[in-house]
Amino acid sequence: MMKVMEPLELPNGVELKNRFFKSAMSETMANNRNQPNEKHMRLYHAWAKGGAGVVVTGNVMVDRNALGEPGNVVVDDERDIGMLREWARKGTVNETQLWMQINHPGKQSPKSMSKEPVAPSAVPMGDKFKGAFNPPRALTVEEISALTSKFANTARIAKKVGFTGVQIHGAHGYLVNQFLSPHDNRRDDDYGGTLANRMRFLLEIYTEIRDAVGEGYPIALKLNSSDFKPEGFTEEESLQVVGKMASLGLDLIEISGGNYEQPKMSTGTDSEVFFLEYAQKLKEKVNIPVVVTGGFRSPGSMESALEKNHTDMIGIARPLALEPQLPNQIMAGSNAEITTRRLTTGLTALDEKIGPVVGNVYYAMQLKRIAEGKGTERHTNAWRPLLHLITTHGSYALKPKRR
Ligand SMILES: Cc1cc2nc3c(=O)[nH]c(=O)nc-3n(C[C@H](O)[C@H](O)[C@H](O)COP(=O)(O)O)c2cc1C
Repeated sequence: MMKVMEPLELPNGVELKNRFFKSAMSETMANNRNQPNEKHMRLYHAWAKGGAGVVVTGNVMVDRNALGEPGNVVVDDERDIGMLREWARKGTVNETQLWMQINHPGKQSPKSMSKEPVAPSAVPMGDKFKGAFNPPRALTVEEISALTSKFANTARIAKKVGFTGVQIHGAHGYLVNQFLSPHDNRRDDDYGGTLANRMRFLLEIYTEIRDAVGEGYPIALKLNSSDFKPEGFTEEESLQVVGKMASLGLDLIEISGGNYEQPKMSTGTDSEVFFLEYAQKLKEKVNIPVVVTGGFRSPGSMESALEKNHTDMIGIARPLALEPQLPNQIMAGSNAEITTRRLTTGLTALDEKIGPVVGNVYYAMQLKRIAEGKGTERHTNAWRPLLHLITTHGSYALKPKRR
């Protein structure tokens, strides 16, 4: 039997049927009241039928006053409980674990959505992103405590409606990551300075969620292996955070950042070895399952990563936007590699400017097609997604974003 087909038991006894882990992809399909709808149900039904052991939702926001992008789902009270129940029901068919990723964008809330976003400290985004995000203000200690409760409240509702786990989004520069990073967090109170202080927000979120959902309910965390900036959150700190979280009872850690197969394409640096070394160090340090996400494209490399014990599960995002049946196909013996080539307009300068944004739209367009019951449409021409972007979101959409 292939390694990827083997079940995996979480430390709390919950059994995952195989090693495919569908990583979060923001659906941007909610209406202007940020409610989930039929599209979410069809999309997650398709993924559940596709065979992955765990399916993580796109980031769901814990506060309707702080959105990461238009079309985010918000769960900060029980107003949409009926729709959420249906979403959970459709997404858990075929013995699929459906975990809700919960998030707060902090200062990564675009200008069009936040006049004055909040952050650990009033440190604006870097030059490249300045045009898209207003400078943030620092949170008060009372506000930090209120936000911790919001994460716990979202998790409580996720459990109540039938999601089988939650994942705290601690990666990609959002609020939890901002607290961890010494670049973004310049506080001199209990939430800043030493690593113990910078991780306090995450620890309090975890503890309050655990109190709300009880033992035995999976709580996962997505974390960067580092901020990849000299003055940012380091690899050593990331290892320490995971160690601490594991000792508190975290059920699974997903590591993002770095790219398993093609690091040069995604980061521009030779970080493959660096990233694998990190994953290995992590596996030596903690007993909880580790999921490496980023760049898995061929069944061979998935199998080899599991065999070498670099990871316990295979985190996959973009290939599952192109082919929701991918896990079933691989388990049925398909050896086909799924390529996620860079889109191009044919104009190098324009490609450089819009590349990452248009790339994300292309995948979001595929999610929409699956949600509408249509097949996905693979191409490498960037003009279609670019046009789609401008007609649906206007010029805001061309501003840089991060995931
Ligand atoms: C359209 C799109 C939306 C994404 N949304 C999220 C998100 O909401 N939360 C998150 O943690 N990562 C998000 N990601 C990042 C993916 O989970 C994953 O870490 C990244 O795409 C690398 O994996 P891959 O090479 O298999 O695509 C998103 C990626 C894409 C392409």
